Amino acid sequence: MSDKNSNAAEAGTFAIGSTVVNRLGFGGMRITGRGVWGQPQDPAEVERTLKKLPELGVNFIDTADSYGPGVSEELIRKALHPYTGLLIATKAGLTRPGPDQWAPDGRPEKLVARAHESRERLGVEKIGLWQLHRIDPRVPRDEQFVAIRSLLDTGVILNAGLSEVSVEEIEAASKYFKVATVQNRYNLVDRSSEDVLDYCEENGIGFIPWFPLAAGQLTKRGSVLDVIAENHGATPSQIALAWVLKRSPVIIPIPGTSKVSHLEENVAAAGIKLSDEEFASLDAAGRQ
Ligand SMILES: NC(=O)c1ccc[n+]([C@@H]2O[C@H](COP(=O)([O-])OP(=O)(O)OC[C@H]3O[C@@H](n4cnc5c(N)ncnc54)[C@H](OP(=O)(O)O)[C@@H]3O)[C@@H](O)[C@H]2O)c1
Repeated sequence: MSDKNSNAAEAGTFAIGSTVVNRLGFGGMRITGRGVWGQPQDPAEVERTLKKLPELGVNFIDTADSYGPGVSEELIRKALHPYTGLLIATKAGLTRPGPDQWAPDGRPEKLVARAHESRERLGVEKIGLWQLHRIDPRVPRDEQFVAIRSLLDTGVILNAGLSEVSVEEIEAASKYFKVATVQNRYNLVDRSSEDVLDYCEENGIGFIPWFPLAAGQLTKRGSVLDVIAENHGATPSQIALAWVLKRSPVIIPIPGTSKVSHLEENVAAAGIKLSDEEFASLDAAGRQ
């Protein structure tokens, strides 16, 4: 199903600080080259995809300084600056020795420098949402949280979030700043962050599930997911996304793509309303 009239607003909204965004966002990791490195294979199609976002009501875009590195932020700026009505969220805390390689660097002065660079690259006065990509285990976490507090205090960033964290880590960070969002891997078949999601829901923290389209073995013909998808005239990934959206009102999935057709298909999932029975049977199948 790829309905040309679909709009991300059908997913409902969530407020990140004082900015209200539609609850179906976009992930900017897949718009770079292979291994999340360098320029994309088809830059014109990536530009068309990015320019299509506002038209489809997608007003929350996630990226990171390490995607490319720098390339994702640059392409977003080229296609969408001055971002009228859009919230561009970025991250720092991971360095890139090469394609497909990621290494944490949470030294406070590095985090601050990287945030300043992202602000320049994106061409904004303040970064609407800046997230610590990983807590660096080699640096005392309090020092990393103090650096984030200083970025808020100096007005470099407006809101701060975390990525790949436990409930205990969110609580530790909350002593230093208001945690606006948490970005953990979560989808129908990867439920390891259920406790973190529940905590976010109880505390009004936005939960941004990455890799939200995954459905693993459930995409097989004849599976519960396959049958429900057929009944809705939808693809299994659209149903996986619709399930994530129904799971909690604080969830803001950010499916990533470099292609207009895939973007349209993903946004159309915002209009798919699963019944409570469908939700429950997918929930049970996804936990197996
Ligand atoms: N915080 C973190 O540590 C972390 C880690 C990973 C990702 N992220 C963020 O989360 C976002 C989403 O995560 P993700 O990219 O891993 O997962 P995803 O969005 O679930 O999946 C993206 C993959 O699926 C393909 N795809 C997208 N839509 C499709 C469709 N309709 N039909 C078929 N294939 C489709 C994309 O390729 P095509 O380009 O060919 O469509 C891409 O290979 C990233 O962009 C990034 O912003 C965060």
